[in-house]
Amino acid sequence: MPDQGAVVVVGGTRAIGFEIAKHYAETGHEVVLTGQSRETVDAALAALDGRATGLVFDLAEPGSIAPALAPVGPVHHLVLVAIDRDQNAIREYDIPGATRLTTLKLVGYAEVVHALLDRLDESSSIVMFGGQARFLPYVGSTTVTTVNGGVEGLTRALVHELKPIRVNCIHPGIVGNSPYWENRQAALDATRARTPTGRLVTMADIVAATAFLLESPALNGVELRVDGGLHAT
Ligand SMILES: NC(=O)c1ccc[n+]([C@@H]2O[C@H](COP(=O)([O-])OP(=O)(O)OC[C@H]3O[C@@H](n4cnc5c(N)ncnc54)[C@H](OP(=O)(O)O)[C@@H]3O)[C@@H](O)[C@H]2O)c1
Repeated sequence: MPDQGAVVVVGGTRAIGFEIAKHYAETGHEVVLTGQSRETVDAALAALDGRATGLVFDLAEPGSIAPALAPVGPVHHLVLVAIDRDQNAIREYDIPGATRLTTLKLVGYAEVVHALLDRLDESSSIVMFGGQARFLPYVGSTTVTTVNGGVEGLTRALVHELKPIRVNCIHPGIVGNSPYWENRQAALDATRARTPTGRLVTMADIVAATAFLLESPALNGVELRVDGGLHAT
């Protein structure tokens, strides 16, 4: 029997966020997914055969978030997945790109929580997405590495401020079957070779790990690395 309240997936139109929305829709939960445009949201809702509702807002425009979330009712699980990747190296620093991603993940994620606070209750839980670039930077990951570290800071702040609401974050490794990695075979092969399990993380792995964080009553303030053990090598 589904719990009271919706599962809200911010960045649920495609890839990992869509798979999370699909998992909860298929298990009978009320699902609200969000994206940046009416077209991407409607396409995701059609792919779910209407088993979810959708909202449109830009996380990088934080002032637009609260009005856009007004139609949402009680929220049981909130998942903040969205990213608009910023390829940015410190030697060629691009301020607009850095500002957009930093605003999106750090101010935008925080504002979604703030805007929905009156619809969360003591049993609600939140999962926010970082990524392994937080621990394994590469040239071009200046902003991505920074915001993924910021997601951890935000997680700890919210655990403290929102108790007893549980707040966790997840750092996926390279998710081999996610669309971003299509046509990047060399990077996938190199990662698989370095990963102790000898396999790449899948979107299904991330859905399972997200559900584990959302639904386990004792998990709070966890920064979960889901990377097949790459971080331990
Ligand atoms: N894929 C990986 O291998 C990997 C590895 C490590 C970490 N991660 C993390 O996992 C999460 C999901 O990654 P993914 O590859 O599944 O993402 P993705 O395919 O790039 O999907 C991004 C989602 O975010 C939404 N979005 C983008 N910019 C937005 C904005 N400004 N405002 C509101 N929504 C916005 C998109 O909506 P539209 O469709 O409307 O644009 C879409 O729903 C990210 O936080 C990423 O950092 C992924």
